[in-house]
Amino acid sequence: MEAQLLAWYARAGRDLPWRHTNDPYAILVSEVMLQQTQVDRVVPRYLAWLERWPTADALAAASPADVIRAWQGLGYNRRALALHRAAQWIAAEGWPRDLTLLPGVGPYTAAAIRNFALGENVLPHDVNVDRVERRTGHSFTGAAAQALMDLGATVCLARIPRCDACPLQATCPSRGTHDEPTRKQSRFEGSFRQRRATTLRLVAASPMPADGLDREAVDALARDGLVVVLGDGTVVLPSG
Ligand code: ADE
Repeated sequence: MEAQLLAWYARAGRDLPWRHTNDPYAILVSEVMLQQTQVDRVVPRYLAWLERWPTADALAAASPADVIRAWQGLGYNRRALALHRAAQWIAAEGWPRDLTLLPGVGPYTAAAIRNFALGENVLPHDVNVDRVERRTGHSFTGAAAQALMDLGATVCLARIPRCDACPLQATCPSRGTHDEPTRKQSRFEGSFRQRRATTLRLVAASPMPADGLDREAVDALARDGLVVVLGDGTVVLPSG
C-alpha cells in the first residue's frame, strides 16, 4: 500500500517550500506555523520569516516585540513567543536530544523534525495522517509522512473523501464511506480569541493606555507574556 502512495506522491504531491530543506530550524518554523494555520496562508509567511531570521541565532537575537509583530495574522500568537524561546534555547545550548524539551514542541512537531530534518524513520501523527491510517487499516513508515499529509489534505478528506481519485482505492476497506460530522471549529467572529487578537493588533501598532482597551483581553495577553502593562497603565509589547 505504501508503494502506491509514494508513486502517487511523486506524481501529485504538493511542492511546498519546507520540502526543499533539511535544516532543523526551518522545519521547526514551518511546523509551528502549520500547527494551526492552513498551508496556503503559511507559505508566504514562512518564506518571509526565513528571509528575516534565517537561523535560530538570528531569531534568538530578535526582540519579542518584533517576533510578535511578524507573527500577526497567523493566529494563536503564543506560538510566536514559544518559537522565540525555542530559538533562544537552541542558540544557548544547541538542539536538545529530546526535542519536546523545546517550548512549543510536542510529540507531533518533534517527530516532524526528526523525520524531515534528521531523516529518522518516525511518522508524525497529525489528524490527516491518523485518518488515512484508520481508514486504510495500514501502518505506514516515516518515508510516507509527507505523502500522507497530502493525501489527507487533498483526497482522503474527512467529510467528503474523493475515493475515485485515491491511489489506495483498490485495497482500502473504507472506500465509499465518510466520517460523521464532528464538532465544528468554534467561530472566531465574536470569540474571546478575536478580542485578544484585536487588542494585540492595536498594541502592536503603538503603545496604548489600558483604559482604552478591552481589559479582559489585556489581562489574558499579559498572563501569556504577549503584552506588558507599565506602571502608568500603558500597554506595550514585551521588549525583551
Ligand atoms: N501540515 C503540517 N505539517 C505539514 C507539512 N510538513 N506539509 C504539509 N502540511 C503540513
